[in-house]
Amino acid sequence: MRRVKQLPTPLFLALLTLAMLDRTAVPAEQDSAQEYSWNLPKGFPKPQVPAGNPMTAAKVELGRHLFYDARMSVNGKASCAACHKQELAFTDGRAVSAGATGQLHSRSAMSLVNVAYSAALTWSDPQMKNLEDQALVPMFGDRPVELGLRKGDGFLPMVRSDPKYQALFERAFPADNDRFTVNNVAKALASFERSIVSARSPYDRYHYGGDDGAVSDSAKRGEILFFNQHLSCFRCHGGFNFTDATVSASSAGRKIEFHNTGLYNIAGGLSYPAPNMGAYEHSKNAADLGKFKAPTLRNIAITAPYMHDGSIATLEGVIDHYAAGGRTIDSGPNAGIGHDNPNKDRLIAGFPLSRQDRADLIAFLESLTDEAVLHDPRFANPW
Ligand code: HEC
Ligand code: HEC
Repeated sequence: MRRVKQLPTPLFLALLTLAMLDRTAVPAEQDSAQEYSWNLPKGFPKPQVPAGNPMTAAKVELGRHLFYDARMSVNGKASCAACHKQELAFTDGRAVSAGATGQLHSRSAMSLVNVAYSAALTWSDPQMKNLEDQALVPMFGDRPVELGLRKGDGFLPMVRSDPKYQALFERAFPADNDRFTVNNVAKALASFERSIVSARSPYDRYHYGGDDGAVSDSAKRGEILFFNQHLSCFRCHGGFNFTDATVSASSAGRKIEFHNTGLYNIAGGLSYPAPNMGAYEHSKNAADLGKFKAPTLRNIAITAPYMHDGSIATLEGVIDHYAAGGRTIDSGPNAGIGHDNPNKDRLIAGFPLSRQDRADLIAFLESLTDEAVLHDPRFANPW
């Protein structure tokens, strides 16, 4: 009896074997082309990935090189990273972006952290669903010029003749006869973007990790405000990625809503100033006027200025806008009372907020900053 007790039980041995198998499974997965290792944060589902572009570590690595390569612009002056800077959660700190030639975009650059989960891409285009398609817009678009590439103008020959790229393309697309194509460039960029999955903020350590001391008491009170019915923030910025425009492998193809938050109400027929009129730009349906995607609020404290056109400078300003149930602009071409925009979402009704409440809400939003992703070498410039 005593001797049996001292020997490892069969159950223990089985568990030990499983634990060892589990450990060795991770590096093996990373190396294999079939099984990409996502290393997903707690609470995060598997992202949706198009069947034609399965994730591989080799494509991610190629995409990272392309993302940071200014040779991929008309004059060698800009890359994706010019407007999507890692240290700013892949935004650019500007109200509206400037392209390689200096031409201004009409919109503010968006964060790319957890973009793999975005059900629709850009501020207001319900049809733009794949990162592969979206990448072609900054590459080749001319309204406005972002990277300013013209198909066939120098950039593919550069890629083809660069020894570094030769090796990277061979590993990423071993089966292709002609690997150096725009399609493959887009696939690699998309794979890199999908790999930027992160949730290592103090709030994540507190909420998912059970570390009660990770956030302040003020942030905890702010969390309660954020999820309360009066403020309703969570109704549009809910879920693990703090946006209702979220999709994952298990909810692929899900339809999402765009919202008019009463930022503008200019006189005349169209209440939002051109060219940023929201989903209306694509549908020409008056019901879509001023409707934009609710962006993720992860890392929001470092991605100022805010809104599709960068027209609110600070988080305090954003909270004033919501507390008033829409923004009032007193004078100038955009003058108007956003509160009265006929298309405004009924959740944007306004609410009273004490000075302490305001500070608490901001402390909560600040707890969503993930310092680790801002410095993670896997997402940094490889050149
Ligand atoms: C000139 C600055 C600029 C450059 C260069 C640029 N972007 Fe962007 N990016 C933007 C702006 C502005 C938006 C918002 C566009 C809109 O709403 O129409 C955006 C939006 C995006 C989005 C949508 C994110 C979301 O949450 O929906 C993705 C993805 C993206 N860019 C990827 C890229 C890639 C890949 C490159 C390089 C091939 C690139 N960008 C180059 C400024 C830029
Ligand atoms: C009806 C849906 C809805 C509700 C409710 C809502 N938001 Fe938003 N939020 C949006 C949309 C849509 C945008 C983008 C609007 C635009 O640019 O025109 C946005 C933008 C923001 C931004 C700026 C994001 C960026 O990247 O520039 C912040 C910050 C924000 N909301 C915080 C909040 C807070 C805090 C609350 C609660 C007080 C809240 N939101 C309630 C839909 C909503």
